[in-house]
Amino acid sequence: MKDLIADLGVLSSEPPAEQIRISEATSTGKPRKLYIESYGCQMNFSDSEIVASILQKNGFDTTSEISEADVVFLNTCSIREKAETTVRNRLVHINGLKKNKPELLVGVLGCMAERLKTKFLEEEKIVDLVAGPDAYRDLPHLIARVDEGGKAINTFLSRDETYADINPVRLNSNGVTAFISIMRGCDNMCSFCVVPFTRGRERSRDPESIITEARDLFEKGFREVTLLGQNVDSYKWSAAENNKARLEKNGEAEHVVNFAHLLDKVARVHPDLRVRFSTSHPKDITDEVLFAMGRHDNICKNIHLPMQSGSSRILELMNRGYSREWYLAKVSRIREILGVDCGITADMISGFCSETELEHHETLSLMDEVKYDYAYMFMYSERPGTLAEKKFKDDIDEDVKRQRLTEIIDKQNIHSLERNQLDVGKTYKVLIEGFSKRSEDFLYGRNSNNKVVIFPKENKSKGQYVNVLVDRCSKGTLFGKLV
Ligand code: SAH
Ligand code: SF4
Ligand code: F3S
Repeated sequence: MKDLIADLGVLSSEPPAEQIRISEATSTGKPRKLYIESYGCQMNFSDSEIVASILQKNGFDTTSEISEADVVFLNTCSIREKAETTVRNRLVHINGLKKNKPELLVGVLGCMAERLKTKFLEEEKIVDLVAGPDAYRDLPHLIARVDEGGKAINTFLSRDETYADINPVRLNSNGVTAFISIMRGCDNMCSFCVVPFTRGRERSRDPESIITEARDLFEKGFREVTLLGQNVDSYKWSAAENNKARLEKNGEAEHVVNFAHLLDKVARVHPDLRVRFSTSHPKDITDEVLFAMGRHDNICKNIHLPMQSGSSRILELMNRGYSREWYLAKVSRIREILGVDCGITADMISGFCSETELEHHETLSLMDEVKYDYAYMFMYSERPGTLAEKKFKDDIDEDVKRQRLTEIIDKQNIHSLERNQLDVGKTYKVLIEGFSKRSEDFLYGRNSNNKVVIFPKENKSKGQYVNVLVDRCSKGTLFGKLV
């Protein structure tokens, strides 16, 4: 495994260009406008806010209308083949726009950029610029290169880039909830997963910059932050490695902040600031984290704990680092420390290499044992370069994968409804996020367990906390009235 990590070819990112010559304005003298579209996980959406911030500092405006844009960026995902197909189809559409506006600069960012590198420029002629997830500081420089008539690419992966000092521009924000990236990359090497190749080595962000960002959001009126990382439980920041001067100033010998400490610090920013986090890894989540959750009312009681498969043999092939029994013991521990009300959600994959019908039934039976509140469910999609692609045959027929996925989804729908039915008759503290999709006479928000709650508006508005008595539910939503 270590060899493979070393093989990833992780390099330090290029030093920032000393002199960046970039055309900030259009020929009419107005600032150039950036339109950015994000695909994939929350990390990508969060990165787009970093990108917007970097370009704003360089004189760009952002727009939510692609028709107004001078620069279009797609921040892409490689997790499954379908995610990549979606982006390619989108590029066909953007090509149409470029025909009417030849000066439109089209850039591909994120995981697909990292995976395909120069191939992207060869395969997709309309793409002018390719930048991987650790190269965003270089974007002004890359744009300048395109302005001079070339194509531009930077896909260096960094060991230390965390964009800690960049204050993200909140795009499409509801003004109430925001994401904060606390770490980047992943060292886990699950055999099916492309992320370690597209995001590089794991690194944690300075806790002080995280607290400052949370405090700043609270002062701006935000009431919920979600701490993001591919594996938040392995968050680890060592002052000894990162900032000797600060240690000396505080007279400390060594100072390590783990995820439980970080949760504690963020929860203390303000009791009215809710804290969520994603994603936890079953092999790494500790009692210390569960106790920190228990200590603070404002740390939301919901854990996303991807299980992937209910079969220990398949989990071993997936290189997940835990067995079915270990996973179930973790779930028991969560319920012991935080109670049965604590929400548990998961990711599952159907039809991984060599999965038998019996093993698929182990996934279904594990679901019966846990009864997840919600789940994200996928058919296995082989990704080039991953351990699974190198070592195993993708030998389960598409039809079988689909059939198994349907069975998983059907079961989850039953469980989601059952879990929601348990909430009927209970009163929850809800943070209001906005109007319900169906009617402006209703508001929607979430309870601590991350369930969507809809209720009549009365005189309430977004950003407020209210108590709602749940009187009915569907599998996806709780409905109630203010009390
Ligand atoms: N870091 C997170 C997951 C990130 S990817 C974790 O470890 O849980 C999100 C989810 O996509 C994964 O949990 C997995 O269920 C799914 N996934 C990842 N690679 C996949 C693949 N090749 N085919 C199908 N689903 C995949
Ligand atoms: Fe992928 Fe596994 Fe890392 Fe999650 S923990 S990002 S599934 S390698
Ligand atoms: Fe996709 Fe990259 Fe996230 S592959 S899921 S955007 S880390």
